[in-house]
Amino acid sequence: MARFLLDDGTGVILRPLRPSDREAFLGAFRKLSDRSCYLRFHKLDPRLRERDIAYLTTVDQVDHVALAVFAPSGGIALGRFVRLPEEPATADLTLTVVDGWQRRGIAKLLLAALMARARSVGITSFTASVLDENRPARTMMAAIAAPLRREGSSWLYRLPTDPALLHPGPVADALARRDAELARRFTPNG
Ligand SMILES: CC(C)(COP(=O)(O)OP(=O)(O)OC[C@H]1O[C@@H](n2cnc3c(N)ncnc32)[C@H](O)[C@@H]1OP(=O)(O)O)[C@@H](O)C(=O)NCCC(=O)NCCS
Repeated sequence: MARFLLDDGTGVILRPLRPSDREAFLGAFRKLSDRSCYLRFHKLDPRLRERDIAYLTTVDQVDHVALAVFAPSGGIALGRFVRLPEEPATADLTLTVVDGWQRRGIAKLLLAALMARARSVGITSFTASVLDENRPARTMMAAIAAPLRREGSSWLYRLPTDPALLHPGPVADALARRDAELARRFTPNG
């Protein structure tokens, strides 16, 4: 667990998701707009079934890793990766930041932390499926990686988990800065 400052000086806590975070998870989910929910889950029905909640909150932090960001008001963001059984050095990545906290650098903090954790468990690349219409996520992915292919209404991106191998630019630079900070201050098992 560690406290990080966002670009605007706000302090947030980053730590692995715990089994006891079920209520915080549901609280953050309720703060998501239908639009963000749709962009995250690629479906219009925003309800989570009990089995979805169990799956999303029961993680082993090796093959299924979830890191959460907290403000004093509660959970505000969650990033996760799930190792692909058929390609164990690759994991599928998702990022969710609740609407009121978007555009403050939280996705970059989470992505840098997930990349560091991934490297420590032998994962060298992430895939991420992003809806064509998801301008924020596509802008972020396009800044650091090329899309692998189109899949229906989504684009599949593949990005290395080593920030030094990302497409150079301001987003890669920000990830590299967070990576250095995380190496000094964050224990992903804590
Ligand atoms: C996509 C999402 C995770 C980005 O989170 P965020 O904390 O707002 O992102 P950050 O502030 O760290 O910005 C990271 C980069 O994303 C891009 N970006 C974010 N919001 C953007 C927007 N509204 N328009 C254009 N680009 C945007 C930029 O490249 C930005 O880098 P910059 O700040 O150097 O320009 C967030 O919008 C979200 O949770 N959306 C709903 C769920 C979702 O779409 N998840 C992605 C599926 S994997």
